Amino acid sequence: MFAALCCVLLVLAFAPGSKVLAEEKFQYAIKEFTVPLDHYSFLSNTSFNIRYLYNDSYVDKTNPDAPIFFYTGNEGDIEWFAQNSGFVWELAAKEHAVVVFAEHRYYGKSLPYGSDTFNTSKPEHLAYFTVEQTLEDYAMLITFLRNGRELPVVAFGGSYGGMLAAWFRMKYPHIVIGALAASAPILQFPGLTPCEIFNRITTSVFETAYNANCSANIGKSWKAFETLASTDAGKLQLTDKFHLCDPLKTADDLKAFLDYLEEVYGNLAMANYPYNSSFLAPLPAYPVRQLCYYLKDLAANETELINSMASALAVYTNYTGTTPCMDYKNTRDTANFDDHGWNIQSCNQMVMPFCANSSDTMYRTSTWNLKEYSDKCFKKFQLTPKPYDIVLRYGGRNLEAASNIIFSNGLLDPWSGGGVLQAPNSEVHVIILPEGAHHLDLRSSHSADPPSVKDAREKEAAIIKQWIEKF
Ligand SMILES: *[C@@H]1O[C@H](CO)[C@@H](O)[C@H](O)[C@H]1NC(C)=O
Ligand SMILES: *[C@@H]1O[C@H](CO)[C@@H](O)[C@H](O)[C@H]1NC(C)=O
Ligand SMILES: *[C@@H]1O[C@H](CO)[C@@H](O)[C@H](O)[C@H]1NC(C)=O
Ligand SMILES: *[C@@H]1O[C@H](CO)[C@@H](O)[C@H](O)[C@H]1NC(C)=O
Ligand SMILES: *[C@@H]1O[C@H](CO)[C@@H](O)[C@H](O)[C@H]1NC(C)=O
Ligand SMILES: *[C@@H]1O[C@H](CO)[C@@H](O)[C@H](O)[C@H]1NC(C)=O
Ligand SMILES: *[C@@H]1O[C@H](CO)[C@@H](O)[C@H](O)[C@H]1NC(C)=O
Ligand SMILES: *[C@@H]1O[C@H](CO)[C@@H](O)[C@H](O)[C@H]1NC(C)=O
Repeated sequence: MFAALCCVLLVLAFAPGSKVLAEEKFQYAIKEFTVPLDHYSFLSNTSFNIRYLYNDSYVDKTNPDAPIFFYTGNEGDIEWFAQNSGFVWELAAKEHAVVVFAEHRYYGKSLPYGSDTFNTSKPEHLAYFTVEQTLEDYAMLITFLRNGRELPVVAFGGSYGGMLAAWFRMKYPHIVIGALAASAPILQFPGLTPCEIFNRITTSVFETAYNANCSANIGKSWKAFETLASTDAGKLQLTDKFHLCDPLKTADDLKAFLDYLEEVYGNLAMANYPYNSSFLAPLPAYPVRQLCYYLKDLAANETELINSMASALAVYTNYTGTTPCMDYKNTRDTANFDDHGWNIQSCNQMVMPFCANSSDTMYRTSTWNLKEYSDKCFKKFQLTPKPYDIVLRYGGRNLEAASNIIFSNGLLDPWSGGGVLQAPNSEVHVIILPEGAHHLDLRSSHSADPPSVKDAREKEAAIIKQWIEKF
């Protein structure tokens, strides 16, 4: 974690033991495709393989020109996105489409230098870890799959994958006829969106999930933690009460612990689904409400507050009751998201400012400081971020020239603050899900889905169908 509160698009705070593929239900062939390491060089012909998942079982075999539904893979193992994006499969069944999930370079098993990819003594290995190289991989893969045929290809993605889907349509309109960009915060970049929005939305989710004492208690907890941690005996108590994997010893440990809690709140808001899930961690239905249940009474004193916080946080860290300890330093590799890869991207192009004001949120006050942020990136990866690169390449708020993109956003998702909530023209569609968390619409349909999600999926399906028919 760097200067910003939260510099990971999807997640840093994993609950240990989240074995997400346990939910596995979709099937596919796993294939590989060879791509140039550097698409933009005519001097080098070095190449490596990216993985993709392929299923053409829904295709009507008499139709040689079946649509392709192409998921533009994001920051993690692609199998995990395939299992968490049921809508793509459901719609493919209806439209008799081929389903392809492509793995993002530098993630999962698509590593350009194998196990040496992230070797810190070879920072030059990170040179080809960009959005543009990735989109070029996808363009080549689709061209290969089309095999000379003109086919309607639709891009899909959620979160950073949704950003990629939208940018893919903007840059390669001759390759994809349209894109569904679910919860894609393409405006979460410097100069486009106020840095405090993410934490404001999270706060309001916690304020309204049960009662307002929840966010008030969390707001008071920071000082309570600091007070208790000011003595060695207090540090021991915290280590014990919260079942910390690494004992709290230093000021840095305390900072790591409190930063972790901030990430947990963001993750809970993102994964605040109407049914139990194991998206970011195994969680009950409406986990924020569950957590807030333990914080529904304003604590009488700091001791009581700390005790309630311990029960509350277990909703995230220990829903299964099998988490041995709270891994606030995120040192154990337990989930499918790759925070290491994402941290690298946030040190080259994905510069997303975050800040908070304790007077109107439940967070500690923090400021956005690009210089500090850059220094940390350089120290860690020998990378100097380019904060305006994405705006330069993709236009920031100037989306007038875009077409055939659906931007869907759940208003309970903290990332919606950086989402496209107003359509720039009639060919770009904005779909708002008032009760939606992070790309809820991209998940499989579920009996507990609120009506707005069902509506959103129907609209998305109708628009995509129209694109295909027009093609
Ligand atoms: C593709 O998905 C269908 C439907 O879930 C399944 O029956 C089939 O086995 C899958 N194909 C492959 C190659 O896994
Ligand atoms: C790369 O280019 C060099 C020079 O043309 C050639 O000798 C070599 O076989 C090429 N390597 C690959 C993997 O294509
Ligand atoms: C990183 O690269 C150096 C130099 O080639 C090598 O000696 C070292 O073993 C590598 N580190 C890891 C963790 O693979
Ligand atoms: C959700 O709850 C159901 C019923 O209690 C259970 O069978 C299922 O395993 C749970 N799923 C997850 C992801 O926790
Ligand atoms: C908040 O907590 C206080 C003190 O425990 C309690 O009296 C009050 O009813 C709570 N507020 C709500 C809205 O429940
Ligand atoms: C904190 O409040 C609880 C509940 O009101 C009470 O039992 C306890 O004695 C108080 N502890 C301190 C240290 O004031
Ligand atoms: C999770 O719950 C189990 C069973 O109650 C307990 O032994 C373990 O310490 C808890 N872990 C954490 C991190 O709270
Ligand atoms: C925080 O919010 C308060 C009240 O809205 C305002 O007076 C203050 O200037 C803000 N602080 C920062 C650092 O933005």
